[in-house]
Amino acid sequence: MAILVTGGAGYIGSHTVVELQNRGYDVVVIDNLQNSSEKVLGRVEAITGKKVPFCLTDIRDRIGLEEVFSKYEIDSVIHFAGLKAVGESVAKPWEYYENNIGGTLVLLDVMRRHGVKDIIFSSSATVYGDPLEIPITENCPKQPCTNPYGWTKSMLEQIMTDIQAADPEWNVVLLRYFNPIGAHESGTIGENPNGIPNNLMPYITQVAVGKREILNIFGNDYDTPDGTCIRDYIHVVDLALGHVAAIKKLQENPGLFVCNLGTGIGYSVLDVVNAFMEANNLTIPYRFAPRRPGDVPVNYSDPSKALREMGWKTQFDLRKMCADSWNWQKNNPNGYED
Ligand code: NAD
Ligand code: WQD
Repeated sequence: MAILVTGGAGYIGSHTVVELQNRGYDVVVIDNLQNSSEKVLGRVEAITGKKVPFCLTDIRDRIGLEEVFSKYEIDSVIHFAGLKAVGESVAKPWEYYENNIGGTLVLLDVMRRHGVKDIIFSSSATVYGDPLEIPITENCPKQPCTNPYGWTKSMLEQIMTDIQAADPEWNVVLLRYFNPIGAHESGTIGENPNGIPNNLMPYITQVAVGKREILNIFGNDYDTPDGTCIRDYIHVVDLALGHVAAIKKLQENPGLFVCNLGTGIGYSVLDVVNAFMEANNLTIPYRFAPRRPGDVPVNYSDPSKALREMGWKTQFDLRKMCADSWNWQKNNPNGYED
């Protein structure tokens, strides 16, 4: 039996495949490679010493998915595939709804036709909007999202919740990730954004490697100790291990299970910049710029449910996240391109 990993060539997916294979799980990856490279899978194979069965398939392609489910004995799905750029989603809402929601509806239908009713879904802390409580527990009410990307996560959570309620044979694990950064410590796989990075850590590493001149820090007048926004940054390997824990959780037939994956610690933008400089003995030029629309001042998790219910907690601190992010970037200044 194998775990189907959709979007397994992407940033979080590839790290999760490593941790699954290292623990003896069989996986099958599907990805349409629209935001990734097949080279990632060769790198994963080099780390784990195992072959990664790969199907170049789009989750919106029903026939392609049917073939995958017929060819392999799939017993559960970890569903990473989706578009994830917040700003792009504002410019291209139809594309985001069609890919993320349309694709997931096809996936869920093919799954049930093949009697596969165990799914782990990549959700996001974005569903909490401007959170009503800090730290954020899973009981914190969801808020209206500020962009179509966020809505796709929020709506897909609702869709899967309704499907599980209608058919209790389903086990649906909704994992709400906080801010994944870092990379595998080999420095051979990592985050590889197209164009100008939207997210903080890839921007910092691109400044460090000389691809960007200066980091703009969006806002220093927030009501936080140093005026910059606070987030819960989590090492991508810890996040990957959260999926291994969630796979074990599925064996308990939890029905619907919603869980935060974060460290529980909030760091400001300046904390991250300073930690990066210290960990790597580098200087990152930065300047303060206007606030970025849609940013919430403070967002960090209460991760105690994950510990209580899955026995999972994070291991890696901010320094390690910064060191591993830089190790990846400096060894691969152009990502997976030669
Ligand atoms: P990523 O872009 O690196 O990985 C997503 C993968 O899905 C890519 O390899 C892409 O080619 C593939 N894909 C996209 N649409 C597809 C389709 N229709 N069919 C097949 N493959 C498709 O992104 P990531 O950072 O690894 O994120 C993985 C998941 O986690 C996404 O669903 C994302 O929304 C979610 N998430 C990410 C973050 C984050 O900050 N990185 C935070 C919360 C949630
Ligand atoms: C972090 C902080 C920025 C870039 C996003 C998505 C969220 C989730 C994770 C998927 C903020 C500041 C950033 C820069 C900066 N993704 N910043 N200069 O916004 O917390 O979350 O990724 O689900 O949905 O919204 O992460 O890394 O973009 O920003 O000052 O060049 O860094 O303003 O305070 P964010 P981020």
